[in-house]
Amino acid sequence: MSETPQLTRRPEWTALEDHRAEWHAHLRGLFAADPGRAERYVVTVGDLRIDYSKHLVTDETLALLLELAAATDVFGLRDAMFRGERINVTERRAVLHTALRAPRGAVVEVDGENVVPHVHAVLDRMSDFARRVRSGEWTGHTGRRIRNVVNIGIGGSDLGPAMAYEALRAFTDRDLTVRFVSNVDGADLHEAVHDLDPAETLFIVASKTFTTIETITNATSARAWLLEGLGDGDASGAGDAGSAVEKAVAKHFVALSTNTEKVTAFGIDVDNMFEFWDWVGGRYSYDSAIGLSLMIAIGPEAFREMLYGFHTVDEHFRTAPPEANAPLLMGLLGVWYGNFFDAQSHAVLPYSHYLSKFTAYLQQLDMESNGKSVQRDGEPVEWQTGPVVWGTPGTNGQHAYYQLIHQGTKLIPADLIGFARPVTELSGRLEAQHDLLMANLFAQGQALAFGKTAEEVRAEGVPEEQVPHRTFGGNHPTTTVLARELTPSVLGQLVALYEHKVFVQGAIWNIDSFDQWGVELGKVLAKRVEPALTEGADVPGLDPSTAALVAAYRDLKEV
Ligand code: F6P
Repeated sequence: MSETPQLTRRPEWTALEDHRAEWHAHLRGLFAADPGRAERYVVTVGDLRIDYSKHLVTDETLALLLELAAATDVFGLRDAMFRGERINVTERRAVLHTALRAPRGAVVEVDGENVVPHVHAVLDRMSDFARRVRSGEWTGHTGRRIRNVVNIGIGGSDLGPAMAYEALRAFTDRDLTVRFVSNVDGADLHEAVHDLDPAETLFIVASKTFTTIETITNATSARAWLLEGLGDGDASGAGDAGSAVEKAVAKHFVALSTNTEKVTAFGIDVDNMFEFWDWVGGRYSYDSAIGLSLMIAIGPEAFREMLYGFHTVDEHFRTAPPEANAPLLMGLLGVWYGNFFDAQSHAVLPYSHYLSKFTAYLQQLDMESNGKSVQRDGEPVEWQTGPVVWGTPGTNGQHAYYQLIHQGTKLIPADLIGFARPVTELSGRLEAQHDLLMANLFAQGQALAFGKTAEEVRAEGVPEEQVPHRTFGGNHPTTTVLARELTPSVLGQLVALYEHKVFVQGAIWNIDSFDQWGVELGKVLAKRVEPALTEGADVPGLDPSTAALVAAYRDLKEV
């Protein structure tokens, strides 16, 4: 049995339950009684201004939530993480993505060894390689300049660089084509390469373990495509020492991994491998070597600016007092809704075209981290853990699913993220559109919080039978995150903010936010089922439903 008291039996938890039971306030009333909350409930971190005034909280709520954070020792676990302790208990690993952005000269030890020099050595190698590709000094097998970069990876080895590449498009070298292939559906690789010249294409195979079937399958197919395109005949000839094939692969394939053995076995020279370490979780890895495609696209300087942004928020999280600690407050607000208001999901709604992949990225960060139902010691949890995270860029969502947020029956806390200035050089008219974009963000926050009363609807002369339909209840909580513009540093700040928010929630729920055993079973079963699809093999132990599906698939395939 767990020695620590069960979360829901802690007095700090029951105090929150009592507070919730007495909660009847509406945001309209909260602001009427205390207009100062608009200024008071704002925290600034680096370039981010985080406004949490439109939340269903009072000073008392916040005090109770902070007491819960203290009782569950969130900051104790935080300090253990920064010290390099093995807080990923089920994998017995340190959790040190914060070391990836530690400045040169910092000391972060794992088992008595300072890892920061290793981090910077890899960053330096990446920078050198990125410069050579960007300048044209690194050429393909036939001597042609590299114009296309294709990252092959999945999950954390795809979502981070793909998201950040979109986010920082304005900072990319527009002469380079950068694409991301993740799906084992052959259509993904086909669409990514069908219009590319192999002689000008560099493949970056990104895989922490270098065993992930999707990535290895796509990388093998990419190698075949390359060798066929280069006219080097035997596409399967990896390992043919000193051959033209090996030379071609050496100029067109690099690997990002922790697994030197598997990278070598695949036929990629270790000289073309950029390493990282087991203390970097896949979903926390795009500021490691996994970010190489991004670094090639935006250049090493911008990449380091992004790391500086991450580090700024790391330092804030490490040192800011609880009541002004942004990730702590955001994490606690999520606990408040998820555990005391039965909110099942959390929407992240960026008002920025460049952040179109941001929420998809956060889905892995949050849901793979906190989608757990046992505590750190293996005991089942008796409380809700991570929410369903979802959302797309704001204005598009307004014309799709916001209806449900405004007038549906579910409580959906949301983050609205926006910027004061467009980051690209836009022509006069397009630049002016930015104000309209942001007007939408502010209007939605306002409508969600304050709604429209039946009296207000009637006062507009709306026929009585329509009044209920056109009334907005309001009282829907939002956080508004505002920055001047979406620079590399600001992106790093945003990602670190969410990383640490997720950490806070995992600490309170007493779960291991850094393992992901839940994805293993599907992987094992897929391997077992595949021969039944390809060879018609008899797979022992298939349940009747799956066996019938496999049979139907095989029949349809033959038609
Ligand atoms: O299947 C989940 C997962 O293990 C993620 O955690 C990880 O980001 C992804 O697969 C890819 O793993 P790898 O980088 O080892 O290929």
